[in-house]
Amino acid sequence: MVDIDKLREKFLKDINLAGDLDQLNAVRIDALGKKGAISSELAKLGQMDADARKQAGQIINAVKQEITSALTERQELLAKQALDKKLESENIDVSLPSRPSIQAKMHPLSRTMEEISAIFADMGFVIAEGPEIETDENNFTALNIPPEHPARQEHDTFYLKADASGNRPVLRTHTSPVQIRTMRSTKPPIRIIVPGRTYRSDHDATHSPMFHQCEGLVIAPDIHMGHLKATLIDFCLSFFGMDELPVRFRPSYFPFTEPSAEVDIGCSRKGGGLKIGAGDSWLEILGSGMVNPRVLENCGYDSATTQGFAFGMGVERLAMLKYGIPDLRIFYESDLRWLHHYGFMPHDVAGLHTGIV
Ligand code: PHE
Repeated sequence: MVDIDKLREKFLKDINLAGDLDQLNAVRIDALGKKGAISSELAKLGQMDADARKQAGQIINAVKQEITSALTERQELLAKQALDKKLESENIDVSLPSRPSIQAKMHPLSRTMEEISAIFADMGFVIAEGPEIETDENNFTALNIPPEHPARQEHDTFYLKADASGNRPVLRTHTSPVQIRTMRSTKPPIRIIVPGRTYRSDHDATHSPMFHQCEGLVIAPDIHMGHLKATLIDFCLSFFGMDELPVRFRPSYFPFTEPSAEVDIGCSRKGGGLKIGAGDSWLEILGSGMVNPRVLENCGYDSATTQGFAFGMGVERLAMLKYGIPDLRIFYESDLRWLHHYGFMPHDVAGLHTGIV
């Protein structure tokens, strides 16, 4: 028979040495598990005669009792220690300042596009869209810019690989091809604006190879230059938020409009700074004109009975002027500090689209 005292000592020692609940459980199995040392001793009792069984039974059961309560005691201690450790590691210092939360801001260009769209939406314009990869026909030829036309040189066009029939698609150099798409797919009256991306191979402080324009097109039998002027004057006042702003229509040339006018707003450049409003200087902000009868005919319209006006503006330029941003390249640098400073809270813009149908 094993020395029960030795077993007792061994297990009491193991219990005290158990550093965590897993180790303690291992000791419990060694001692009291089905095949544990104490359990085996108890099992042997059955083969003893009555007297010996009684005597040995008392001893072994007392040891079992002792080990059981030592296990319980140690378990409570270890559980408490584990909890204390957990509480300590999860300690929350409520006096610490909260982490700064980053408020997402709306990019000034998106904001400017929203503003432009909202102003025209209020006048009853509808937003139209077109692809950024365009056919030569829509970007140039149908707009009265045939292949050898000098205006093509001014556009610094990105040409793509020719297709099977030899036509080279282009990255649209302006939003004007959407005029063609709309006139060819719908009947007058038309009253659309086209905010969107455009591309030209040009890069400096005021030009980027990718930039944004907003086109406008109004077609109906009786639309004349007076409508063009009133619409664009209203737009300028509204966009720059001024009750009085000198707006000048300066004769110009675009192949797709006749007559054409560039629109300038008054400004002053005194002391090196630029101030929009009455002043001694002018600032060009957009191109416009009555749709060239050739363009109307190219789209299958009868230019004797249908007319209209079109305009196109550079979104970057308008955003730079309105928000005093001197260099356009910063728009595309994704500099979070800059965006945080110049960006807008998204909810400032919510609900601008009141007039869109
Ligand atoms: N498409 C012209 C440009 O990119 C702008 C414009 C549009 C001018 C419509 C007149 C009418 O410069």
